[in-house]
Amino acid sequence: MQVTSYYHRTNPDEAGYSLGNLAEIWGPCFDAAGVRSVAEVGAERGRLTQELLRWASESGARVTAIEPEPLDDLLELLDEYPSLKLIEETSHEALADMPIPDAVVLDGDHNYYTLSEELRLLAERSEEGRIPFLVFHDVGWPLARRDQYAAPDRIPAEHRHEYGPDVKLVPGNSGVAERGLPFEWAALREGGPRNGVFTAIEDFMGVHEGLRLAIIPLFFGCGLMWPEDQPWADEVAEIVAPWDRNHVLELAEKARVIQLVQRHSREQEIDERFEAAGRLEEAVSRVVNSSAFVASEWLSRLRRRGQPAFSREELRRLLDESESQR
Ligand SMILES: C[S@@+](CC[C@H](N)C(=O)[O-])C[C@H]1O[C@@H](n2cnc3c(N)ncnc32)[C@H](O)[C@@H]1O
Repeated sequence: MQVTSYYHRTNPDEAGYSLGNLAEIWGPCFDAAGVRSVAEVGAERGRLTQELLRWASESGARVTAIEPEPLDDLLELLDEYPSLKLIEETSHEALADMPIPDAVVLDGDHNYYTLSEELRLLAERSEEGRIPFLVFHDVGWPLARRDQYAAPDRIPAEHRHEYGPDVKLVPGNSGVAERGLPFEWAALREGGPRNGVFTAIEDFMGVHEGLRLAIIPLFFGCGLMWPEDQPWADEVAEIVAPWDRNHVLELAEKARVIQLVQRHSREQEIDERFEAAGRLEEAVSRVVNSSAFVASEWLSRLRRRGQPAFSREELRRLLDESESQR
């Protein structure tokens, strides 16, 4: 198994947003399960893809990335690794058509409808209905029990929760906050039926027996699912056992998330203050340049024998100073 240690990765994900961070866990599981082909749903800039390709360069497995909006870094990987296959489609389009691989990473649009449909397609189309080895991202806060929508128009209206743009989330608040972890589009409420990634997984397991699920409670939560009647099932269980629902990891994740939320909130507050200062400068500048102001300055000059209480030059200089400090 070839997994580059975190500190030696060429493209480390310092913010902890990529499943590439967990290569030391999924890599040995794929080896134990004899995975010969893997598809990543939602490859974005290719951080996990790169780790999958590194792992595959030793095992000889095929790697497919499914990404409707690939970023440049992912496209560059195609030159570096000619064996990489990129399908520029949504998961539902791709999974309805392609042969189902031995392992699938589900990390695309994190909402109940999209994930449930992905799971339905995988279950219906895999050989003899055998569920492939599955890796899920975002099984923890904030998307475990709350839908996020990458492109709300792609979700049929009857499957969308009430949602908003530029949603800010804070742990412990089931609504939305003024400041917090930002999402372009997300449900306005957490919880309830058919809401969130973990709810979709639970509902799927409710109608498909014989599946094991491990949860690594770090980096927003990673789920690993496999059929327990596979000859390698116990070996995988042994590999993940130290990480599965590990209490110390849960505590570390809680602390990490709080710090992340606080950092975003502080940055948002600073942005708001800059914007407010900009608006104030604009308003003052309009007043200073108005004819009413010129007349008041003239009157003040007259009353104070040529020394007005305020002058346009002085206010303009203060405005310039304030602008240069922003
Ligand atoms: C969180 S990022 C993936 C991160 C990546 N797997 C990693 O670990 O580095 C989610 C990606 O899913 C893609 N996406 C959104 N909706 C999708 C869909 N319906 N099917 C496939 N991918 C989708 C987005 O364009 C985005 O690039």
